Amino acid sequence: MRSPCCILTKTLILRLSRHALHGRLPRIYHCQALRCFCTDHSQSSKPYYITTPIFYVNASPHIGHVYSAVTADCLHRFKLLQGYNSRFSTGTDEHGLKIQQAASNAGEDPLNFCTEVSQSFKHVFQRCGILYTDYIRTTEKRHRQAVEHFWTVLHSKGFIYKGTYEGWYSTPDESFLTPTQVIDRIDSEGRPIKVSMESGHKVEWMKEDNYMFRLSDFRTELLHWLRLHPNIIRPVKFHHLVLQWLEDEIPDLSVSRQKSRLQWGIPVPGDPEQVIYVWLDALVNYLTVVNYPQNHSQWWTSVHHVVGKDILKFHAIYWLAFLLAAGLPLPQTIFVHSHWTVEGKKMSKSLGNVINPLDAMEKFTADGLRYFLLRQGVPDSDCDYYDDKVIKMCNSELADALGGLLNRCTALSLNPTQVYPHFCNTCFPKELRGKAVSEDYRMLEAVSALPVLVEQHFENLHIYKALEAVSACVRLTNAFVQRHAPWKLDRKDPGDQRWLDTILHVSLECLRMYGILLQPVVPDLADKILSRLGVTTEERNWDSLNFLMRYEGRDCDLEGRALGPDMGVLFNRLERSQVKGRKSKSQ
Ligand code: MSP
Repeated sequence: MRSPCCILTKTLILRLSRHALHGRLPRIYHCQALRCFCTDHSQSSKPYYITTPIFYVNASPHIGHVYSAVTADCLHRFKLLQGYNSRFSTGTDEHGLKIQQAASNAGEDPLNFCTEVSQSFKHVFQRCGILYTDYIRTTEKRHRQAVEHFWTVLHSKGFIYKGTYEGWYSTPDESFLTPTQVIDRIDSEGRPIKVSMESGHKVEWMKEDNYMFRLSDFRTELLHWLRLHPNIIRPVKFHHLVLQWLEDEIPDLSVSRQKSRLQWGIPVPGDPEQVIYVWLDALVNYLTVVNYPQNHSQWWTSVHHVVGKDILKFHAIYWLAFLLAAGLPLPQTIFVHSHWTVEGKKMSKSLGNVINPLDAMEKFTADGLRYFLLRQGVPDSDCDYYDDKVIKMCNSELADALGGLLNRCTALSLNPTQVYPHFCNTCFPKELRGKAVSEDYRMLEAVSALPVLVEQHFENLHIYKALEAVSACVRLTNAFVQRHAPWKLDRKDPGDQRWLDTILHVSLECLRMYGILLQPVVPDLADKILSRLGVTTEERNWDSLNFLMRYEGRDCDLEGRALGPDMGVLFNRLERSQVKGRKSKSQ
C-alpha cells in the first residue's frame, strides 16, 4: 500500500505544477514569508469591478433580483478575500415606458415613485448583506451626463442615423422584436394577440421616426471577438447561444423614442423631440459608476457583469456593439445565470407566487436564504423554489452538518480549557503508523484540495459546485470525528489526551478552512465559526488557507490560543410549523 503521505504529496505536486503553469500557484503552499508578501503586495492594488444589472423600479424586489445581487456579492467578497481592490456596483433602472406607465398607474410623480422603489431595493440589499460599493440610479445627474456624452460619441462617429423603425415592441421587456421572435396567442378575454416568444409578454406594432444605431455593422466583428475569447460569457452554454444568435443577420437598432410616446427618459442631445432608448441609457450605468468619461480607464478594463439569461441579448450583443462603436474596451466576463421558478411555475404577480425576499429572510435568516440560492442555484438551468427545500437544505447542511461539527469539536466536555488544541505528530504522522487511519489521510487530501477547487468553481460561476465540495468535506470531517469518538477517550491517560487533542485540532483546522471559504456565501455564519475558533480578522483571507501546518512540520499560530467565547448555536434548525406564513415586519 502506498503511504498516505505519499498520496497527499503526489496530488499536491501535480496540482501545484498545474497551477504554476497557469501562473496561479495556490498561496497556501508557500512559505510564511512568501505568504506575507502575497497578502501585502501581489494583488492588493489589482482592480476588480463587478456589476449587477440595475433593477427596474416598476415592482418590488423579489428573490430573482436578490439572486442576481447575491451572486455578484459573492464574487465581490471572494475577490476581496483574495486581496483584490474590488468595486461592486448595483442600482436601479428608472427610465422608460414601463416605469412611466407604472408611475402613472400608481398616480404618482415618476421621480417620487422611483425614489420609493429604489429605496426598497436598497433596504432589501442591506438586509441581505449585499456589500455594494456603489449604488446608481439612472435618474441621477451624473448618469445623464455620461449617457449624453456616450450618445454624442456614437453620433459623431457616424454610428447613429435618423431613420424609421417599423416593427414589434414589448414594453414589459423594453425590447424591439423581429417577426420571427413573436407568436400568436389568445389573451384572457379571448382576443388574438402577439407575444414575445422568449418572455411571453404582449407586443405592439409601432412605426416611428427615430434614431437608429448601426448594429448590423458589428455582427462580424462581434462573432470574431467572441470566437477569439471563448471564456468571456460564462457558463459556456451561454457563449454558444450568443454565437448562434450572431449567425443570423441582425437589424439596426432603434435607439430613441418619440417624445410624444415617451417622456420619462433622457432627451437626445440636440433633438428634444426624441428620448434615448431605455436600454442604451441603462447599459451606460456601468460606465457612469466609474466616472465616465473623465477617468474610467483603470476600472473599466477590469469590469465583469452578472446578468440573468433574459437580458443576455442586451449585454452580449447591444452592449458589446455600443462599446466597440465608442472605442471602449469590452468586458472581461459576462456571468450569466438562469431563473427561479416557484413550485414549478414562473414567478408572476398575476399568479400571486412572487417570493418576497424580506419574508424569506424573516423565515430563514439572510444567510439561510443566501446559502440556499447559491447552493441550489445552477446558473445553466432554471431552478425551482420551495420553502420546504430551503428548510431541508439549511437544516441538513448548516444546522446539522456544519453547526453540529462546530458544536461537537468545541464542546466544554471535550475541551474544558477552551483553547485551540495541540496537534501531535506521533498520533497523526505522515506515514500510516500512528492512530490515524487511511480514511483520515483521504480527508486531509480532500480538504487541502478545497481552496483551488472552490476558486475554480467561483471563477466559472459554479458556486453551487464549490458549496457541494465544501459540504462533502464537512461530511468527511464529521465522519472523522465519529470514527474516532473522542468522547470515549480517557482524558486522564496522556496518550489518549494527545490523540483527543489531535482529533480536535484537525477538526478545527477543517472548520477554519470551511469558515474562510464560506465567507463570500454566508458571511455571518462564517464569522461565527471563525470567531469561535479564535481566528482574528487578519487571519481570514485567502492566504490564510494554510491547512494543518503542524502536519507539515510547521508552526500553527492558533495552537494554545483561547477559543472565542460565543458558544451559541451556529444555525437554529428551522421547523416547518414556525416558518409557514411568517411575514417580515419591516416591509
Ligand atoms: N433593468 C433591466 C436591467 C438593465 S441592466 C443595464 C432589468 N431589470 S429587472 O429588474 O427586470 O431584472 C434584473 C435582474 O433580475 C436580471 O438579471 C434578471 O435576470 C433577474 N431576474 C428577474 N427575475 C428573475 C427570476 N425569476 N429568477 C432569477 N433572476 C431573475 O432587466
